Amino acid sequence: MITHIVGNRPQFIKLAPLYHELERGGYEQNIIHSGQHYDENMSDVFFEELGIPAPSVNLSAGGGSHAQMTAKTMVGLEKELVKRKPDLVILYGDTNTTLAGAVTAAKLCIPIAHVEAGPRVHDKSNPEECNRIVTDHLSDVLFSPDAISFQNLEREGLGKKACITGDIMYDTYLSIAAKSVENRDAGQEEIVVMTWHRQENTADRGRMESILDLIEKLESRVVCPLHPRTRKCLKQFGLLERAETIPNLEIIEPVGYTEMVRLMNSARLILTDSGGVSKESSYAGAKCLFMLELDVWEDLVRDNWIHKFDPENTASAEEALVFAKKAQRVAQADRPSYYGNGHAAAKMVQELENRSFI
Ligand code: UD1
Ligand code: UDP
Repeated sequence: MITHIVGNRPQFIKLAPLYHELERGGYEQNIIHSGQHYDENMSDVFFEELGIPAPSVNLSAGGGSHAQMTAKTMVGLEKELVKRKPDLVILYGDTNTTLAGAVTAAKLCIPIAHVEAGPRVHDKSNPEECNRIVTDHLSDVLFSPDAISFQNLEREGLGKKACITGDIMYDTYLSIAAKSVENRDAGQEEIVVMTWHRQENTADRGRMESILDLIEKLESRVVCPLHPRTRKCLKQFGLLERAETIPNLEIIEPVGYTEMVRLMNSARLILTDSGGVSKESSYAGAKCLFMLELDVWEDLVRDNWIHKFDPENTASAEEALVFAKKAQRVAQADRPSYYGNGHAAAKMVQELENRSFI
């Protein structure tokens, strides 16, 4: 039995192709949902759209502090893993659900495969960095989305457990984009698509105001499916009304993946602090203004596809505006391609078989 442990929106998107690939191979699997994301449009919608079966159990561990959420997930997981005795657990990305899965499975001596292993921002004040480091070091097989992530693992002495599979989100992106005929419609209005949710950009009122200032200055239609965390923080800081009345900003509820792909494929620019969305920008052909000064996807930063900036630094924000105003949609042939060929799931199953994990 193979057990997938997931709990967040990007993990459902990463899970879909691997689940289906293992299913084609006839492997027995089940899904444990931590409950970290729990709104219908942050969770259920992805299971439905991507054809993922319902989880065997939901641990309802969402909300609360990092420690509360991680601990609650661990307690629930331990019980489930002892009962179900899987031969392998598969973990995804770098969230508190991933961390809880790694620590719990490792202590029960259950082998762990980690999907999206090796990205590093070299800054432990970033909560996801802590989760990535612990998970990679406790895992038995590591699937890297790109060469830089693999090199990071080699530097940390984990090279023998690791391989480059390409980005599994690209598998999902391609399968959804292929189904969405309307994406290819000519003459669509080009928009700026925005996502905004990271702790660094939601914990401080001044920083949230600086981000709103930047949106106003963009003078383009900005469509923002707003993460519930950001809505709550804007409200708490008394900024929600201002955000809702910025004329060029259209705040909408979080969207399912099909709609997200349609939006990204209509964008001339993506404004985000999301690790996943900043990488997907290269699939969708829209350059990315990244609202954190972190070492995200270094190849894309070097190519000036991703422009990193600090919203609170006036000079950095001005440079960002220049980048944003110039950004135009990029033709397929001119898009960077550092993240594989869209067959990451097949490569992962092959590696698991070759290494006798399944
Ligand atoms: C988490 C991950 C982050 C990932 C993101 C993907 C950690 C440390 N963070 O951040 O790495 O990029 O998921 O989206 O694991 N909330 C709701 N409804 C929901 C989910 C969240 O209202 O369905 C609200 C709750 O108030 C919750 C807050 O958002 O406390 C933050 O949620 P949480 O899962 O802690 O962090 P994310 O910002 O989603
Ligand atoms: N996404 C989505 N709907 C939305 C916002 C994002 O489907 O309203 C997708 C997005 O395209 C990407 C994934 O969710 O595939 C990224 O999730 P998020 O930004 O929450 O997490 P991160 O990548 O930062 O961990």
